[in-house]
Amino acid sequence: MWGGRFAEGPAAIMREINASIPFDKALWRQDIAASKAHVAMLGACAIVSSEDAVAIERGLDQVAAEYERDGVPENWDLEDIHMTTESRLAELIGAAAGRLHTARSRNDQVATDFRLWVRDAIDQADASLAALQRALVNRAAEHAGSIMPGFTHLQTAQPVTLGHHLMAYYEMLRRDRSRFYDARVRLNECPLGSAALAGTGFPVDREMTAQALGFDRPTANSLDAVSDRDFALDYLSAAAQCALHLSRLAEEFVIWASQPFGFVRMPDSLSTGSSIMPQKKNPDAAELVRGHSGRIVGALTALMVTMKGLPLAYSKDMQDDKPPVFEAAGLLGLSLAAMTGMVAEAEFRTDRMRQAAELGYATATDLADWLVRTAGLPFREAHHVTGAAVKLAEEKGVALDALSLADLRAIDRRIGEGVFAALSVEASVAARDSHGGTAPEQVRKRIAEARRALGMDS
Ligand code: ARG
Repeated sequence: MWGGRFAEGPAAIMREINASIPFDKALWRQDIAASKAHVAMLGACAIVSSEDAVAIERGLDQVAAEYERDGVPENWDLEDIHMTTESRLAELIGAAAGRLHTARSRNDQVATDFRLWVRDAIDQADASLAALQRALVNRAAEHAGSIMPGFTHLQTAQPVTLGHHLMAYYEMLRRDRSRFYDARVRLNECPLGSAALAGTGFPVDREMTAQALGFDRPTANSLDAVSDRDFALDYLSAAAQCALHLSRLAEEFVIWASQPFGFVRMPDSLSTGSSIMPQKKNPDAAELVRGHSGRIVGALTALMVTMKGLPLAYSKDMQDDKPPVFEAAGLLGLSLAAMTGMVAEAEFRTDRMRQAAELGYATATDLADWLVRTAGLPFREAHHVTGAAVKLAEEKGVALDALSLADLRAIDRRIGEGVFAALSVEASVAARDSHGGTAPEQVRKRIAEARRALGMDS
């Protein structure tokens, strides 16, 4: 299509390095939609005749029907989805096809198509995140009072409830959704009409195309519009943070499913066996979610480095913007679906969790708190006394609340009978009823708010 100036065809290597059709054919729906909006505007503004505009629109519908039926043909000579579609349109409707590209360049065209694609990806991510949140909230409601050890440094710290633990991920995903939402707001401006870089001399109506494609307004600067890929970086950066959260949750499942922990039985549907060890049931889906997060972060890095240092306006480097975004979107969708299935179907072994909470001196802080509250010790001193009690319990191989009152009084005479009520794991979680704390009461309150926010009650 630009052969007029060239004496010979491109060398084979040029043809291959130049072609983006192998990946940008994924943009075909957006490319057809944007072309239809553009030509309808050209007709309405009398830049092309209404007969030609109608012929082009019908032809584009036919091309779309062919793509839908047979897939997009991959001819490297046609470089990309834009030229592939225009060339097929010319075969179908003849010379009028050549008017479609009036007042347009592939630079504003691809920027528009790609924004539309990323906008859909954001909407899909939001819907999948909401589904995972609903699964978390359901399981949290089931286990608002189920006690497990809470960890710091992966060492038993204080008892928490499984519901509280699951709701922590609800909060992370809530922030992820708000990052995607922000990205969508900034993305939603239409580059069409910026043409190659400087705008166009044709009397176009940019409001009209922006509106037809669901954008809030046209972009304000043509140089920026054709060379801006912030919207893709915003999407990838939201996706990367989301993937980090999923990978942390996946890691918890991997640890919990390991036999020494035994906190969870993974659903068969999301596990695999071993080809040599018959007893094995491996948490492969969780491990792959953990692994995929690395690739999603890699996609963000790849596009950042591609964009770094590019002068205005369009440079061909920017053709490399699509593969990382497509890859990240695919991996994120799979990861969200896998984690939703895992959360919904995992069998939580609350008996094992409770046992672990009782074995790990998880209520030592409660003993110290009791000494402060009831016996009036300064916290530092209470911490010291409690340390001695834990040491003694460890020597005797028993839980804290299995020490006798005489044992405890030998450590500090201010300890009284009432202490035992504070040392059970139930008492410990019930006591942590500060806003956002692990007390079942607090957890249920937050679950109720989450259900309302997710529209689960209507
Ligand atoms: N295939 C190109 C891309 O994805 C389309 C834009 C080409 N523009 C140009 N001036 N060669 O970026």
